[in-house]
Amino acid sequence: MTKPVNGFSKLTKTEKIEWLAKNYLHDNSEAIPILKQYWNDDEKLQKLHDEFIENTVSNFYLPLGLAPNFLINGKYYVLPMAIEESSVVAAASKAAKFWSERGGFKATVINQKKIGQVHFLFRGDYPKLENLFKDIEPKLREAVKPITRNMEKRGGGILNIELIDKTEDLENYYQLFVKFDTRDSMGANFINSCLEKFAEVLQEEASNAETFNKEEKDLQIIMSILSNYVPECIVRAEVSCPVAELSEDSNMTGEQFAEKFIQAVRIAEIEPYRAVTHNKGVMNGIDAVVLATGNDFRAVEAGIHAYASKDGQYSSLTHAKVENGIFKFWLEIPLALGTVGGLTSLHPLVKLALDILQKPSAKDLMQITAVAGLAQNFAALRSLTTTGIQQGHMKMHLMNILNQNQATDKEKEDMVEYFTHHTITHSSVIEQLEKMRA
Ligand code: MEV
Repeated sequence: MTKPVNGFSKLTKTEKIEWLAKNYLHDNSEAIPILKQYWNDDEKLQKLHDEFIENTVSNFYLPLGLAPNFLINGKYYVLPMAIEESSVVAAASKAAKFWSERGGFKATVINQKKIGQVHFLFRGDYPKLENLFKDIEPKLREAVKPITRNMEKRGGGILNIELIDKTEDLENYYQLFVKFDTRDSMGANFINSCLEKFAEVLQEEASNAETFNKEEKDLQIIMSILSNYVPECIVRAEVSCPVAELSEDSNMTGEQFAEKFIQAVRIAEIEPYRAVTHNKGVMNGIDAVVLATGNDFRAVEAGIHAYASKDGQYSSLTHAKVENGIFKFWLEIPLALGTVGGLTSLHPLVKLALDILQKPSAKDLMQITAVAGLAQNFAALRSLTTTGIQQGHMKMHLMNILNQNQATDKEKEDMVEYFTHHTITHSSVIEQLEKMRA
């Protein structure tokens, strides 16, 4: 059995890899070159990546694709998308083109407040705690001035601080519930620094409060942390067009398409099993842009899924209707994104992705990202309710198999033609390729 290791973080990168190969990969001689082949020749660039996290041994590549023709609020964008799943970028591009010919996407940021909490226990008289809070609120704000000064210069800062009694749900449990405006930054460090300072001041003031008895003075801070649930940081994206303009081919009228499409959305609205997959499609677009722009996709995922359950049952993030002959399709989601700070100026590809998006503000990026989610969902539902999703997927699958087998351009062309009329499976493709080559 492999023994636990001490001082792993002190080993060099090569020593770490050698240790890994020896202890967990049966001395696999290929492991070392595989990990090393992804090191960047540019040592400065590699060092930058090494230092993003701890115990780095290699880089993990994801493709960066471009989805052009996104007309958003009257302006054309090309969206950088970092994603491993085939068909997503193609689907986004297709939906973008479709809607660019029908007025484009409209997007609005409804609000942009972030939230953080100091969670603490207080064993005592609530009115006394309330009075203390009222007395010290100015002190709390004053104590974080060194942290908030720059943010205030940019028009942001602390919006309000509330004392919340949660003792009905958990004995002795209270919160400072704080709302922040972090402008163009995601603001996690800013928020957490403010909260930890609040916690320090609160505890100190409680321990010195003349009106508090011994137990009350013993106010206990449990933790101070931002919330990734941001239901007051909402963006809306929508598309609309006359129903008759929805149809692109003679197989279906616009009315028939709209009816089936809206039914598909309704199913996701009322049926959680479908809603999760439906929203996964939305997240295909959102995550890819969030990742490419160096934002925290785990935070975004957690917040959006919580929002999808806000009415007590997990439901669709998108909605659709026909009103007076106009088809409308929209989504409203919480999105806490930043375009300054964090990775945005550190990671060269993130910086470039933001340049591709014409240096967006956080609001712009919220709008663009929400549109990516809506477009992706439109493309998925369109395929699902018309041709089925496998047609497109299997074409990509075919290409992947052909590429893995070093097919020439001519072979690819012939194979695509052949498989227009035959069923694609891994073995059928290999068999046909071998036949062709023979
Ligand atoms: C696949 O990544 C996403 C879909 O399953 C989304 C959906 O079903 O709506 C196609």
